[in-house]
Amino acid sequence: MKSRKPMVAGNWKMNKTIYEARDLIRAILPQVENIEAVDIVVCPPHVCLGVAKRETEGTNIMVGAQNMHWEASGAYTGEISAGMLVDLCQYVIIGHSERRAMFGETDATVNKKVHAALKAGLKPIMCVGETLEENQAGQTAAVVEGMVRGGLIDVTPEQAQNVIIAYEPVWAIGTGLAATPEGANGVHKDVIRPVLRELFGPEVGGAMRILYGGSVTAANAAELFSQSDIDGGLVGGASLKPDSFAAIVKAAL
Ligand code: PGA
Repeated sequence: MKSRKPMVAGNWKMNKTIYEARDLIRAILPQVENIEAVDIVVCPPHVCLGVAKRETEGTNIMVGAQNMHWEASGAYTGEISAGMLVDLCQYVIIGHSERRAMFGETDATVNKKVHAALKAGLKPIMCVGETLEENQAGQTAAVVEGMVRGGLIDVTPEQAQNVIIAYEPVWAIGTGLAATPEGANGVHKDVIRPVLRELFGPEVGGAMRILYGGSVTAANAAELFSQSDIDGGLVGGASLKPDSFAAIVKAAL
């Protein structure tokens, strides 16, 4: 038994209309009924957060956003602040590799967003992970450590209790090539966990959850989640189908 409560979060990315989101949540709910031992989170697009909140009220499914801006308000056309999200959801994915690769996010902007989220009362799911080139060059540990440290600058131990880390090797996302359970656990246990312990102390650093993401499926989830420092998953493609998402949630039990 792990002391950390597992979490399975579905990152829907840019998929589902409002009505499709409603239907997907309604299809997931009966399949995960009464599961209290796993924190279950769905992260739909911003425009679906309202319907997600309505459909999940009073249930064991929680809601997260996929991104936010670090400022509280102002002339940032097209952006959404943490203060706007906090009425709709409890979690927010920050620094996903797609946002880093396509939308110019850096450790510095990730760090600003982490602070803004925490200040507003949202729990950040901060994503880190190396590219294929970095992996092949043997830079995984250095890159991941740098991203963890860079994203968490000036976060206090008290705040860190509300931060979730997601290790998502870029080469494993959407490719069907998940990291091996031992390989992913090595990064969680020997790279990320020691940094968290150093930054926030052994107790808080030991209690923070580190999720794995990248081609998690109903077939590989149980083995991944059985590893000592894999505390659940951030699931993309497989979170869009109620059966596979529910099976992944159950694999975390
Ligand atoms: P995937 O995506 O499960 O489709 O690989 C994971 C993610 O990007 O969070």
